[in-house]
Amino acid sequence: MSSLAAREPDLSWSRAVISWYRSHKRDLPWRDVNNAYFTWLSEVILQQTRIDQGTAYYHRFVETYPTITDLASASEQDVLRLWQGLGYYSRARALCATARQVVTDHGGQMPLEYDLLLGLKGIGPYTAAAIASMAGGQDVVTIDGNVYRVLARCFGIYQDIAASQARGLFQAFGQQLLPAGQASDFNQGMMDLGATICTPNKPNCSACPVAVGCFARQNQMIEALPVKNKKIKQQVRYLHYLAITTDGIGLWLRMREGKGIWHGLWELPVLETAKDMDWKELSDVADTTIPEGQENLWSLLLPNLPVRKWVAPKHQLTHQTILANFYVLDIAKSADIEPMSDFLTTLGYQYLDQAALEAVPKPVLLSKFLASVSIAS
Ligand code: ADE
Repeated sequence: MSSLAAREPDLSWSRAVISWYRSHKRDLPWRDVNNAYFTWLSEVILQQTRIDQGTAYYHRFVETYPTITDLASASEQDVLRLWQGLGYYSRARALCATARQVVTDHGGQMPLEYDLLLGLKGIGPYTAAAIASMAGGQDVVTIDGNVYRVLARCFGIYQDIAASQARGLFQAFGQQLLPAGQASDFNQGMMDLGATICTPNKPNCSACPVAVGCFARQNQMIEALPVKNKKIKQQVRYLHYLAITTDGIGLWLRMREGKGIWHGLWELPVLETAKDMDWKELSDVADTTIPEGQENLWSLLLPNLPVRKWVAPKHQLTHQTILANFYVLDIAKSADIEPMSDFLTTLGYQYLDQAALEAVPKPVLLSKFLASVSIAS
């Protein structure tokens, strides 16, 4: 018996998923296209986007750039414009970079093998597995949120899916469920099952092809699985503040609203991460949680290079230790200065000159930063 799951993986389970998929699959334009470039495009678009919204963008991209070579020769500005409205703009930039790499390193042919795909900039384990299985026919399982849920419930897997080892464990388990040569239908069947039947709330078990024997259903564990340990109150917090100037004097700040210890104080734009990161790691949006509603702003900010970094001294509060980095960013010469200013304004930030900066109430850390670091470049 596998120590991970309460129930052994078996291929008859997978065959039930596959035959259900074949008769119920959603009619999506990137399915069965037999074109690895289209598969890749659809997967990148769908990463943080709902299917109904993503479908329109998918059509626009394949019409505007019918081949990966067309995309590789497009300007990043044009691609960003086509991407506009989808958010997480780093995906659009990575799309350009990957397309160019495929042209230079692979003669314009998207590789079909998992390991080669993983070697491309901007392609991680999920996307590599999706392309390798759906376009390449390779026996490799895709692990996403839907798959975690379906496997955890059906097989009684209590592994915390928020833990770093979860992906590897689920991947190894899912791999045992793959009938040879059918990874494309199996993976997409799992996606559809998770999206339409085995949903997070109120799953439609009566329509489920693998309801019989489902561990969660038999044991009243549907709501409890998958296990995703909510963050316990964090002892150590990693904050990354951005001091954005255009004249070496003023900065963009806003008054903090809502509850919390900094309510009513003025704050710089800030990102929080689960571990310490430097600027380069922050810029890799895949690992960085952008506050909701601020995606457009940060996708413009993160590609810039700060002129200065200041590591704040450890800041001890009653229940938390704050480890903060401050980055000075001079956007005077950035091509994106106008949209950045617009997004900042929309989010309630104001450009404060030196006198205003002195005048507004600030958290201790911000005062220390202003006293210690020159904004002028
Ligand atoms: N979400 C991501 N990729 C998908 C696919 N190929 N089919 C359905 N949903 C998806």
